Amino acid sequence: MECSIDSAGIAAAQASQPTVAETERFDGIDLLTLGNAIATPFYAYSANAIRQRIADLQQALAGMDAVVCFAVKANPTLAILQLMAKAGLGADIVSSGELRRSLRAGIPASRIVFSGVGKSDAEIAEALDAGVGRFNIESVDELAALQRIAHQRGAIARAAVRINPDVDARTHGKISTGKAENKFGVSIDEARQWFADADRRGNVRLDGLHMHIGSQILELEPMRQALQRLAAFWRELTKDGHRIDSIDVGGGLGVVYRKEHDRPIELQGYVQAMKEALVGFEGRVILEPGRYLVAEAGVLLTRVIRTKGNDERRFLVVDAAMNDLLRPSLYDAWHDIDKVASDEGGTRPRVAYDIVGPVCETGDTLATARMLPPCAPGDLLAVRGAGAYGASMSSTYNSRPLIAEVLVDDGCYALIRRKQSFEDMVAGEQAATSWRAL
Ligand code: LLP
Repeated sequence: MECSIDSAGIAAAQASQPTVAETERFDGIDLLTLGNAIATPFYAYSANAIRQRIADLQQALAGMDAVVCFAVKANPTLAILQLMAKAGLGADIVSSGELRRSLRAGIPASRIVFSGVGKSDAEIAEALDAGVGRFNIESVDELAALQRIAHQRGAIARAAVRINPDVDARTHGKISTGKAENKFGVSIDEARQWFADADRRGNVRLDGLHMHIGSQILELEPMRQALQRLAAFWRELTKDGHRIDSIDVGGGLGVVYRKEHDRPIELQGYVQAMKEALVGFEGRVILEPGRYLVAEAGVLLTRVIRTKGNDERRFLVVDAAMNDLLRPSLYDAWHDIDKVASDEGGTRPRVAYDIVGPVCETGDTLATARMLPPCAPGDLLAVRGAGAYGASMSSTYNSRPLIAEVLVDDGCYALIRRKQSFEDMVAGEQAATSWRAL
């Protein structure tokens, strides 16, 4: 690929660091040089790493009638969605905002599935008008709303029922979705009734099954169990004369956040479990992976602002915070963190650091007692596994503007989201000058 204007930034950074030896290559770019070319903190994603994940998944699914719908919530930045569109992927969306992003990125409406427990009437209408491929329906209320809105528009909505298979995904409680106590989906007993009543809903074609039991799943067994429950229900429905055209198995494939520790499910085994459960199914299988496709392709680059210590701890205060990457604060999530330096501290003994951000909360901790080479203000750190649920969950808490995102591809980089300016951040706010009475 020809780097255009953007490569100038890298060239300039390289020229200003003539003595710095190369560090790690990140999709053909030296990570330290990249960190010096753009103001930290920022997210960087490797386009090739994302393409590789897509290719691996598509290869594992070869021979099946399967469509991969990227879970947009994992990383909704337009340039990332454009990568997905280019590879022929669809999208799994949960809001009108995600619908618009997907369409703008060039993902065809027919390849979009609309999930989520709380779709508003306006969102349902908008998605119907856009012609989304399928609504994944999570409650009888929602089913009625879909019928009503589709009827008003003279449309026929295609729908799947989201089954809650009551399986423990054995992941973090806050991202487990397939237990009966969770708000998601409906029981098989309830779904059975929906199919029995299908004739009463002339504007909804209920011909799909859906499930999603949780996220960052590292064991195949819960997946297999859920697939088998779903498949048994499909068989029962077929026997009763209901036609099922699509089975959406959700997302959830876990990734490596902690090298030498996390063992993701092997794709082959996962696809095999799917094939075994669904033997004889002639419709389309839909997958909704988010994290698997993008998490490991992303890093958050952040710089040490201060070091401080007391009798108990040594702290690295860095320029990224919980508002930029919420996962450690919200889920106690582990992200590997490395110092990006040509010598990486040489032979000096490693130090246990608490890596914290500038936000005024004790929970603003990216990592605790992490062993790193000795660090000083100005040093660059790479927070790994930041490509999914990183930028997408960020906020402006403490009035910190949303940070930049950069896509790296074969030795070139492009800014895909500029850092928010102060004016961007306060746009939409106004003084309370125009008072109204009700
Ligand atoms: N499909 C549905 C209906 C979902 O709710 C989700 C994720 C996915 C697919 C994609 O799941 P994945 O393949 O990415 O595991 N913020 C949390 C993750 C929340 C996931 C919510 N739903 C985190 O940072 O770990």
